[in-house]
Amino acid sequence: MILITGASGTVGKAVLAEVARSGEKHRAMYRSKEEAAKAPAGTEAVVADFSDKASLVRALRGVESVYLVCSPIPELVQLEGNAIEASEAAGVRRIVLNSALGAGDYRKSFPSWHRRVEDKLKAAKIAHCILRPNSFLQNVLTYYAPSIRAQGAFYGAMGNARTSYLDVRDIAAVAAKALRSSENDGKTFELNGPEALTCAEVAERISRHAGIAARYVDIPAEAQRKAMMDQGMPEWQVTALLDLQEYYTGGRGGALDGVLQGLLGRPPITIDRFLKEFAGEFRSHTASA
Ligand SMILES: NC(=O)c1ccc[n+]([C@@H]2O[C@H](COP(=O)([O-])OP(=O)(O)OC[C@H]3O[C@@H](n4cnc5c(N)ncnc54)[C@H](OP(=O)(O)O)[C@@H]3O)[C@@H](O)[C@H]2O)c1
Repeated sequence: MILITGASGTVGKAVLAEVARSGEKHRAMYRSKEEAAKAPAGTEAVVADFSDKASLVRALRGVESVYLVCSPIPELVQLEGNAIEASEAAGVRRIVLNSALGAGDYRKSFPSWHRRVEDKLKAAKIAHCILRPNSFLQNVLTYYAPSIRAQGAFYGAMGNARTSYLDVRDIAAVAAKALRSSENDGKTFELNGPEALTCAEVAERISRHAGIAARYVDIPAEAQRKAMMDQGMPEWQVTALLDLQEYYTGGRGGALDGVLQGLLGRPPITIDRFLKEFAGEFRSHTASA
């Protein structure tokens, strides 16, 4: 039995779809009955919370492998730590952990929280595979598409820094394999996508695929901080996002290697394929009417 945590989230949902497709016996973990009701046909759903140890005991009953993921929040260290302890107590054989690029060498922001979970997992008596993905292609939809639809532009302080974006569906394919075999036990993989692009190049690709004129506007990091604070984002989140951006502007997000392709056994999803699929998300309703 495979337990997929975070099944309502961006990566978790993709991992669930992949595991379900493989035909493996599985259970999806949600935090609410409403979300659990959205589980796909053929998927057993369980309602549990990492902060509620009794609910984890129920979720982990009969489970051999766990896909562990949580929202990028400061409590992640404690919450995923609870899940590791509960898994150990329940006799789980393997955990596949969704970590993040930078967990190996960056002592700030999200990567540093993930690193603390990685260390806890390595100290536990449980087989594990750690995935450290680069930035998701899906971020382009979540963070860039709204202002592109409204203003034809997206904003940041990335300068000419490059990012090797990857699709969460590729992370899911790697995770699903790691969940059902011992081949990658004890291994940590940094996962980079197949192309390293600047934000200006991303804007150019979006423009081409969506048939619009999308621009990337580089702004000072302090102006970006103010804009995020003005939108009502909590200060810890603004600081964590800017610190993460600093990691990328330091040139550490643009690596290209064959690791993801090797694990997939096929070429990874490209940004062109992704943008072709989601081109409509970048067009404003007035433009497409
Ligand atoms: N975005 C990127 O480019 C990127 C790159 C590398 C790594 N990462 C890492 O990937 C991870 C997942 O990202 P994502 O975009 O998939 O996040 P997400 O969409 O926010 O999904 C997180 C999942 O965790 C669940 N969750 C939150 N608190 C929980 C709790 N107390 N108990 C049980 N489940 C809980 C959420 O449930 P609810 O729906 O109920 O809240 C949701 O299903 C993050 O840790 C992030 O740091 C992201």
